[in-house]
Amino acid sequence: MRPAGPARLVGSVAAGAVALLLGLAGCGLVPGSVTPVDDVEFTNELAIPPLAPSRMVDGTRVFSLTAQEGTTELLPGVETRTWGFDGSYLGPTLRAERGERVAVEVTNDLPEATSVHWHGMHLPAAMDGGPHQEVEPGATWRPTWEIDQPAATLWYHPHPHGATEKHVYRGLAGLFLLDDDASSAADLPQEYGVDDVPVVVQDKVLDDDGQLELSDNGSEPGTLGGIVLANGTVGAYHEVTTERVRLRLLNGSTARTYQLGFPDREMDLVATDGGLLDAPVRLEQVRLAPGERAEVVVRLEPGETTRLHSFEADLGGVVVPFAMGGNDAFDVLELRAADSLAPSPEPAWTPSAHTDHDALRESDAAITREFELDDRHINGRTMDMGRVDEAVTVGDTEVWEVRSIVPMPHTFHVHDVQFRVLSVDGDPPPPELAGPKDTVYLEPNRAYRLLMRFEDYTDADVPYMFHCHMLLHEDEGMMGQFVVVEPGQDVGTVPEHGAGHDDGTGHDDGAAPASGTGPRYVPGADAHQGHH
Ligand code: C2O
Ligand code: CU
Repeated sequence: MRPAGPARLVGSVAAGAVALLLGLAGCGLVPGSVTPVDDVEFTNELAIPPLAPSRMVDGTRVFSLTAQEGTTELLPGVETRTWGFDGSYLGPTLRAERGERVAVEVTNDLPEATSVHWHGMHLPAAMDGGPHQEVEPGATWRPTWEIDQPAATLWYHPHPHGATEKHVYRGLAGLFLLDDDASSAADLPQEYGVDDVPVVVQDKVLDDDGQLELSDNGSEPGTLGGIVLANGTVGAYHEVTTERVRLRLLNGSTARTYQLGFPDREMDLVATDGGLLDAPVRLEQVRLAPGERAEVVVRLEPGETTRLHSFEADLGGVVVPFAMGGNDAFDVLELRAADSLAPSPEPAWTPSAHTDHDALRESDAAITREFELDDRHINGRTMDMGRVDEAVTVGDTEVWEVRSIVPMPHTFHVHDVQFRVLSVDGDPPPPELAGPKDTVYLEPNRAYRLLMRFEDYTDADVPYMFHCHMLLHEDEGMMGQFVVVEPGQDVGTVPEHGAGHDDGTGHDDGAAPASGTGPRYVPGADAHQGHH
């Protein structure tokens, strides 16, 4: 079932892009970029997503999130119709500690079904919020799980079948920060919104009426917008009051890859998608494809101003980088240091008590699976909700060897686990891929060997997803499904539609009782209390 051969190396989309290049070249019109970002003044204070309130119910930390419609002034004086959680654009920042049990009451006040996926989270498949856990309009979904992974900057966003790009683009996304013993004791800026600052980077296109447009401007990764936002703020600045500031960078865009850094200084990379590195790494730039995160610590002198910049992104060997955003360079966020700065320590931390348990060892890997990506296929297939592509045995450590065989930008994201990049085409990974990852940019025609372990949470009937995180590609089927089963267990029956399609209440989705002892929050047992 795996068509192969050189003919697939240039698929139809690649051929289209080549035709575009040749056409433009023929007219003598090869542009610097077909997807430039507008110059703006940096005069708007950076919005900081509020920390989500929570309440304790029988030992469970319970949050609620309501997906709703609204309007937002993305550009001054322009009312743009947007979607958000508990507000008109983006959502509050959820925060919990390793070892805590959490629950989220997800209410859908939108006119259509959505879902909320906890990107980067290790949790049971029924709680994962993918296309099998859609929430109908008016319904509330109540997933619950125990936080059992290192401190990290995770995020949440909708994942409805075939409509993820639209839902995220309209504004549905937020951060989910995890803390642990190592992160709490670390010498790192810790004050949320002050010196520990979330930065959700996104790009938009507005039409003549000031409304969000998913424009097919010929850029193969999807819409590449000329308006760049940080936490929904265009031309944002942040007042810095400490010698060092920690930026939790999230590429929350649907398609654009950023190459973030400061033209006038280096920064310390301290964490990747799934948590802290072994030690800080000094670097100049970090490339972030959609879905990826990086935590960096930047040093400022009193009274100075600098800007987080997106350099021309190195997309690897893609054709026509000028049509993929690869030639775009622009500022993202201005940092303005006060005249006197409170001291901050040099970034440092000691390993978590869980480090040995969490460690992934290549010698434990018994199985290697191969994944080959072309224009919209993974291993020659497009997404089928009723088909399980891979069955993994619980407890196994595996190597997933992933390669894109087309000269186009793609990424690879795996639900449920954080993986370690063992090698890129046989070479050790660069520092920005050296920590725990759940999403990786695939430079064309290079083999990425990813090491991961499927520790627990078997469910033969509910799959997790793996996919390209360029959301147009994902919606167009560049996704597959895997289940985690007991040794020897058969794959169950996976419904072709999410349960949300069937019962409209959403109350039963993922409401399996928690195992273990002690008091437990029972999903659905306490009445919905509205949102805060
Ligand atoms: Cu961030 Cu399957 O997604
Ligand atoms: Cu892709």
